[in-house]
Amino acid sequence: MCGIVGYVGEKNCIPILINGLKRLEYRGYDSAGLGLIANGKSQVIKNKGKVSLLEEKVDKLNITATLGIGHTRWATHGAPNETNAHPHFNTSKNLFVIHNGIIENYQALREGLKKLGYKFITETDTEVLPHLIDSFLVKGHSLFRSVQLALGEVEGTYGIAVVYANEPNKVVAARKGSPLVLGIGENENFVASDVAAILAHTKQIVYIEDGEVIEIYKDHFIAKTILDKQVDKEIHEITMSLDEISKGGFPHFMLKEIMEQPESVCNSMRGRLLLEKGTSKLGGLESVVDQLVDTKRIIISACGTSWHAGLVGEYMFEQFARIPTEVEYASEFRYRNPIVGKDDTIFFISQSGETADTLAAMHEAKIRGALVLGICNVVGSSIARESIAGVYTHAGPEIGVASTKAFTSQLVVLALITLLIARRKDMSLVDGKTIVEELQKIPEKISTILKLNDQIEKIAEEFKDVKNFLYLGRGYNFPVALEGALKLKEISYIHAEGYPAAEMKHGPIALIDDNMPVVFIAPKDSTYEKIVSNIEEIKARNGRIIAIASENDDKIDSLVDYSIKIPDTIRMLMPLLTVIPLQLLAYHIAVKKGLNVDQPRNLAKSVTVE
Ligand code: M6R
Repeated sequence: MCGIVGYVGEKNCIPILINGLKRLEYRGYDSAGLGLIANGKSQVIKNKGKVSLLEEKVDKLNITATLGIGHTRWATHGAPNETNAHPHFNTSKNLFVIHNGIIENYQALREGLKKLGYKFITETDTEVLPHLIDSFLVKGHSLFRSVQLALGEVEGTYGIAVVYANEPNKVVAARKGSPLVLGIGENENFVASDVAAILAHTKQIVYIEDGEVIEIYKDHFIAKTILDKQVDKEIHEITMSLDEISKGGFPHFMLKEIMEQPESVCNSMRGRLLLEKGTSKLGGLESVVDQLVDTKRIIISACGTSWHAGLVGEYMFEQFARIPTEVEYASEFRYRNPIVGKDDTIFFISQSGETADTLAAMHEAKIRGALVLGICNVVGSSIARESIAGVYTHAGPEIGVASTKAFTSQLVVLALITLLIARRKDMSLVDGKTIVEELQKIPEKISTILKLNDQIEKIAEEFKDVKNFLYLGRGYNFPVALEGALKLKEISYIHAEGYPAAEMKHGPIALIDDNMPVVFIAPKDSTYEKIVSNIEEIKARNGRIIAIASENDDKIDSLVDYSIKIPDTIRMLMPLLTVIPLQLLAYHIAVKKGLNVDQPRNLAKSVTVE
């Protein structure tokens, strides 16, 4: 999604903004731009395509500036071209704005502004903002007040940064529904939509909340609400390091993040396992644990990969915590008048903690009185801050658009929550201890699977040119089938579907021929014999089969074209292992097709618009 970075200080801000934008590239974008105050004048430079093109363009101009803002745009309203790229000017070109989010009433505002004589040159919703702010400036208001008044008329979501050449020592920023942080430096301050953009310069962060407007100078800032009430802001020290957001020698972030999983799942359980008691300790849930244990129903709401983790969570909660559990797409939740109330607990799962659909669903659940809990990776993110209580997954920064290590860490956290509830209900100490012991063995088992990388790369070579793929699994491995298919779709653009293996005969089996590879997730568990029957059904129709199978399974080799043998664990934790080969398979197929693995077309890392 769109990215924002801004600087006010004493240094030349151009390299700071360009590097900040490069750090935001992972979010997905199609054009980029800078707005600067250079020699007291406003200057906007922008282009379709990459930040590196913008950098070349700016270098040729040979300019410097100590105040500026930069933007990467992911098109929503208007084609991805240079005109529609941000920043956008007012008519007198002395004020420019960058914006993340969607102005929902932009048509009405545009018509009104046109009647006042404002000329529009782009197709964007954003362009109403510079004109609207201008319409208050011309009445004699300051920039800060004009931004407050303009935002009072805006419906929709925004994270914005505004610069006005007549007040050349400040950036004004505001937020509603789109993440924005302020970075505090020594005689320099920053604003960004993502800490990654400014991490090279400061770790002192102020989280800007919805409804706040901030006036940022090089040595101080003023925070008020849109309604002009003073707000006291706290400065947070963040612990993320630059190393964590670098590729560390890997060709892609995705591969680095897949390979990091022995460590990231370890971090998700660190200090949280109580072996002797056969349970877990989750500080973030302590204040609500009694309520959680007594809850009548659990709902898990999320999008994409986090939704798949939620499906695994449903199996865990129902099997062990014995609490009825439903999993909801966050994007659907608030549009169907859900029956949710004070007896319900709703977990919102989100890697970024900023997904607009999930955040909106969370607001809806809060209004209805449910116990709203978050499972987030990004510390200090909106969902983490706005939930009543929650658990961080501690997977570390995930930069690749295709979520990998965040998924396995979400599964670990869901297992820990299951233990916490189930042991306070009827799970025996022995069973609790078994789960803890098996969790402790997971990092090493993932390391063993990662050693199959070369084998999986060879299989990828064989399948890189196919047009369709089917992923089948049963029980806990059905959500893994969905996740495997999603990974392949998003980075290799191959059509892929995930199905419960038993459902195949109710329709998808019609698709099977020798052009349709099928990935079976077939570890030796209680559904093994049934899944072998499903494999036979595919084989009888000449389907090509890849099986993710148990390391001691010799029988499967005669049935399938390729088998990827992995260690076993207890059923509830199997998805932590079975998903790893699927991540690697998708990765290698995309690389072999020459695609941009970390920034696949049309996708954004954090989807901050509904
Ligand atoms: O940050 P979130 O977990 O809320 O993101 C949800 C989805 O947008 C995300 O999982 C998406 O599906 C990924 N690209 C999957 O790899």
